[in-house]
Amino acid sequence: MVCLGNICRSPLAEGILKNKLELAGIRNVLVDSAGTSDYHIGETPDKRSIANAHRHQVDISKHRGRQFLAGDFSAFDRIYVMDVSNYENVIALARTEEEKNKVELILNVLNDDKLISVPDPYFGGEEGFEEVFQLLDKACDKVLKKIQLANS
Ligand code: 4NP
Repeated sequence: MVCLGNICRSPLAEGILKNKLELAGIRNVLVDSAGTSDYHIGETPDKRSIANAHRHQVDISKHRGRQFLAGDFSAFDRIYVMDVSNYENVIALARTEEEKNKVELILNVLNDDKLISVPDPYFGGEEGFEEVFQLLDKACDKVLKKIQLANS
């Protein structure tokens, strides 16, 4: 799960998907998140994101920000990015077509081939975080289904 700062959207996406996998009894999937920037390396997620997740029984407080690295292309099968700018930044680090093909806008799992971004809530109010949660919750339901299909 990748966004810009790795303190608002992608830690939430990571926490939501991990929760769903645990509830589904799936233990063999590695989920992580990162930011394309180096702005918040080592930091906890944004307080508003932690609070929003907590309201939905998701604990993201132990996450620490890290930057997306080219090595992540070999460590992960799928790289879900939150917005078009994240997409461009991650694609710029890809060395092969295979790596490029791993990258997908997360809301694409709900709306095939429409370039819809998860809005950046950083400069807005609390309601932006709830909107992000609802979008990511729906998208992660679909990602869970894809994982279940691939595992069956
Ligand atoms: P995120 O949100 O990419 O969802 O973690 C942001 C966090 C920090 C900044 C921008 C967006 N920033 O400019 O520091």
